[in-house]
Amino acid sequence: LGSGARSYDLAGRRVVVSAGGTREPLDPVRFLGNRSSGRQGVAVAAAAAARGAVVTLVTAHVEVPAPAAVEVVPVQTAAQLAEAVTSAAAGADVVVMAAAVADFRPASRAEAKIKKSEDPARDPVVVLERTPDVLAGLVAARSGTSPVIVGFAAETGDASGSVLEHGRAKLARKGCDLLVLNEVGETKGFGTATNAVTILGRDGTEREVPEASKDVVADAVWDAVVPMLPPPAV
Ligand code: CTP
Ligand code: CA
Repeated sequence: LGSGARSYDLAGRRVVVSAGGTREPLDPVRFLGNRSSGRQGVAVAAAAAARGAVVTLVTAHVEVPAPAAVEVVPVQTAAQLAEAVTSAAAGADVVVMAAAVADFRPASRAEAKIKKSEDPARDPVVVLERTPDVLAGLVAARSGTSPVIVGFAAETGDASGSVLEHGRAKLARKGCDLLVLNEVGETKGFGTATNAVTILGRDGTEREVPEASKDVVADAVWDAVVPMLPPPAV
C-alpha cells in the first residue's frame, strides 16, 4: 500500500455528505442564502470516494463541481435537504453534515415576484420561521451508534465564550459524534481554498488541523471517523 495504508479504509462503507448553502425562496426570483461555497463538503465527499466509500453527496448551492464517482442529489432548501439526507442516511455508515443549512426561512413564499408599491410605508416585512434541524433529527432517529454522525460548526468567539467553548457546547447540544469546528470571519473559512479546523470528539478528544487545503482537512475528518466505525461486515 505504500504511503496509503489508509487508502481503502472506507471500502465497503456507505457515506452521506451534505455540502453547500441552502436557499430559501422569498418569491420566484429571490431567496435568502448564505456564503457557503460547498468546497469543504465536496472535498469531504471526494476524500471518502478516494478511500473506497460509496458516497451520496447532497448538494445545496455549491460553487465547485461535484467529484466524479459520487452520487449527487441536488437540492435547494433546508426542507429538501432534510428529506434527501434523511432518506440517504437509511443504512449509511456515516453522515457528514457539512452543508450550511438555513436556520430560518421566509414564513411565506410569494407566488409572484414581489413588487414595489407607490407607498414606501407599505414595503414588505419578511417574517421568518425555523427550518428543521437535520443533524438533530439524524441523532434523534438513530438507534445505537450507527451511523456515525459528523457535524460542522462555523463559530466566532464572542463575549459569552471562545470558539472552542462554543464548539464544545454545540457538540454536547447536538449529540453528534464529531464536530468539525471552524473559526470564521470576513476572510476566513468561506469560499477560500484552505481551512483551519479543530475536530472535537464526543469522547473529549481534540484534533487540531492547522491551516491546510480543504482536501487535507477532509482526510483529517475521515482519519477521525474511521476508528469510530464498527468492524466491517464480512
Ligand atoms: N444543521 C442542520 N440543520 C439546520 C441547521 C444546522 O443539520 N437547520 C447542521 C449543520 O449542517 C452543521 C451543524 O448543524 O453540521 C451545526 O450548524 P450550526 O449552524 O453551527 O448550528 P446551529 O445549531 O444552527 O446553531 P447556531 O445558532 O449557532 O447557528
Ligand atoms: Ca445555524
